[in-house]
Amino acid sequence: MNKETLSPGTHSGKPKAISRRKFLKGFGSGVVGTAVMPGALAAIAANNEKEKSTEVSPPHADKVMLSLKVNGKRVRALVEPRTTLAELLRDHLHLTGTKIVCNHGECGGCTVVMNGKAVYSCHMLALDAEGKEILTIEGLMNGEKLHPLQQAFIDKDGFQCGFCTPGQIMAAYALLLENREPSEEQVKEAMSGNICRCGAYPNIIKSVMEGAAHWPGR
Ligand code: FES
Ligand code: FES
Repeated sequence: MNKETLSPGTHSGKPKAISRRKFLKGFGSGVVGTAVMPGALAAIAANNEKEKSTEVSPPHADKVMLSLKVNGKRVRALVEPRTTLAELLRDHLHLTGTKIVCNHGECGGCTVVMNGKAVYSCHMLALDAEGKEILTIEGLMNGEKLHPLQQAFIDKDGFQCGFCTPGQIMAAYALLLENREPSEEQVKEAMSGNICRCGAYPNIIKSVMEGAAHWPGR
């Protein structure tokens, strides 16, 4: 038999010669049609799925609406879940009196008062402040008038560069909410989470004592 001739049966009775090349070509397209095509379709389908899952999210899809009270006012803010309370206050509400210094919950520079307690606002998520009452340094003033505690820091030189001062005052405020007549030891203890790089500690303590003496209502 001619080496290029195969004999697939035909209806004419006489086998029709098919070249090896033609056979392989036909076989090849058949294979593509039967075996490779499902594989290719599966790959396309998988790719489509992948594209679906990497679709760009619509704006705000991953954000959360928060509602809380800040300095006596009800505020709502749309934030990413990773937003810290300090970022919410500074970047969303523009209350830049709250300072971010270490951003690691170590220095107290970002201290604000939440439901009457001092907290490091860099170290908690804004989500955790949902429904809470936050007081920042801006909220201490009465119109243009400084709070007696703020005035005491001026009168007693309770700062040098002033960068730690908002945090110091808010920590002191939280202490004085609970204890209107603290001893110096109690002030030191309560303020121990607030670092002053300028080392203004002696005057910070005097300022807190002065603020306690002039607390509203005394
Ligand atoms: S900035 Fe928050 S503790 Fe230092
Ligand atoms: S006054 Fe400068 S860090 Fe405290």
